[in-house]
Amino acid sequence: MLSKNVVIAHRGASAYAPEHSFASYDLSHFDMRADYIELDVQMTLDGEIIVMHDETIERTGLSHGVIKEMTLKEIKEIRIGQWFNDKFPELAHDYYAEQSVPTLKEVFERYGKANYYIETKAPDIYPGMEEQLTRVLETFELLTEERMANYQTVIQSFSLESLIKMHQLKPGIPLLLLCKKGMLRDMSDEDLQKIQSFVYAVGPNYKDLDQPLIERMHRLGFLVFPYTLNDEGDMERLINEGIDGAFTNNPDLLRKQFRLDNGEVFES
Ligand code: G3P
Ligand code: CA
Repeated sequence: MLSKNVVIAHRGASAYAPEHSFASYDLSHFDMRADYIELDVQMTLDGEIIVMHDETIERTGLSHGVIKEMTLKEIKEIRIGQWFNDKFPELAHDYYAEQSVPTLKEVFERYGKANYYIETKAPDIYPGMEEQLTRVLETFELLTEERMANYQTVIQSFSLESLIKMHQLKPGIPLLLLCKKGMLRDMSDEDLQKIQSFVYAVGPNYKDLDQPLIERMHRLGFLVFPYTLNDEGDMERLINEGIDGAFTNNPDLLRKQFRLDNGEVFES
């Protein structure tokens, strides 16, 4: 069961390769052996679920366009690695510049029965996204009772409404509630207990966390997976304070801090 020392590769191994590209997922999954691939999903005009963090293609596609107004064919024309090569010349590779936006189906075709942590991004602007996501997951047999019981396909969101929809569509699916800074401290135990009946974990901003808050969440029955933990000092502190895992751009460093490797880190 994936519930201790969990390493979630945030947008893949995105400290080393362009986020949400096969280059980044290959590194995290095959080379660094992260437990999960983290995927932010959006939906095109023609209803295809694609993986990209932003709602527009400006930052990683270096051009103009809003995903929900673009067809899959248009999305497939953009390249999502040149910005990374420009920003991190010491990590640049020619093939990064050729990376295109993956569809969710392509991710599942490439990584098969890997473990996935899928975020419904901006679900309010994509009516029907949860239904479409469920359909794709079922097509690839990623919502079997066994996989759900083993936390191998997890849905995460900042939107509680989106998690409730997912729970209604697939009651056994493991869910994580992402939390903006301050949110957990503002919530009463009573409110959190209601959520805990169908949400197994919380994902707070790591800067929000300290030992008392982690202990409070554990007492209420949640696992705690903060985002986005990239600094080794922060990792060490929060591991000592009791986190169960984390989202990280550096899966190799988090594995090292969890003592899952013999000190090996990835060399590009
Ligand atoms: O999903 C965890 C973390 O990724 C949330 O923040 O903005 O990087 O998707 P963001
Ligand atoms: Ca995310």
